[in-house]
Amino acid sequence: MKKIAVASVLTISVIMFSAFVQNPKEASIKRGKEVYDNNCMSCHQENGEGIEGSFPPLAKSDYFQKDPKKIITVILKGLNEEIKVNGKTYNMMMPEQSYLSDEEIADVTNYVANSWGNKSKAVFTPAQVKAARN
Ligand code: HEC
Repeated sequence: MKKIAVASVLTISVIMFSAFVQNPKEASIKRGKEVYDNNCMSCHQENGEGIEGSFPPLAKSDYFQKDPKKIITVILKGLNEEIKVNGKTYNMMMPEQSYLSDEEIADVTNYVANSWGNKSKAVFTPAQVKAARN
């Protein structure tokens, strides 16, 4: 009986510990999906495919591929100029989303930079967003 109790306590501790040390990048991407669904999806669509002629795609977008930090700048400052994404021209206005917290912006950037065929080695942090605000 005592052995079972000890075993259960051990099992629970191991489970709690693994949740605690969950890969921080994975955790951020997971939170970022929620930020995306609530703040970006209405324009950029569920799978980042965008709407041709209006909202540029984020999936495999060559616009930020070389420098995914651009995603942070676009969220903080918005974008209102003619741009080319994957060979197509877009010239609409994206309102800034700077009301999002530093953490939300870091999370959604990690999500966008690592979804729908996008891949980024970098891990974006709230401190980086904070610095970019100024
Ligand atoms: C109201 C619609 C709208 C919302 C909401 C919106 N965007 Fe945009 N986004 C646009 C438009 C329009 C452009 C192109 C702007 C231009 O042509 O100058 C754009 C451009 C971009 C770009 C650069 C171009 C590209 O395709 O790589 C990124 C990155 C981006 N948005 C990310 C986001 C993220 C992340 C969110 C949520 C936090 C978001 N956007 C919310 C409309 C929107």
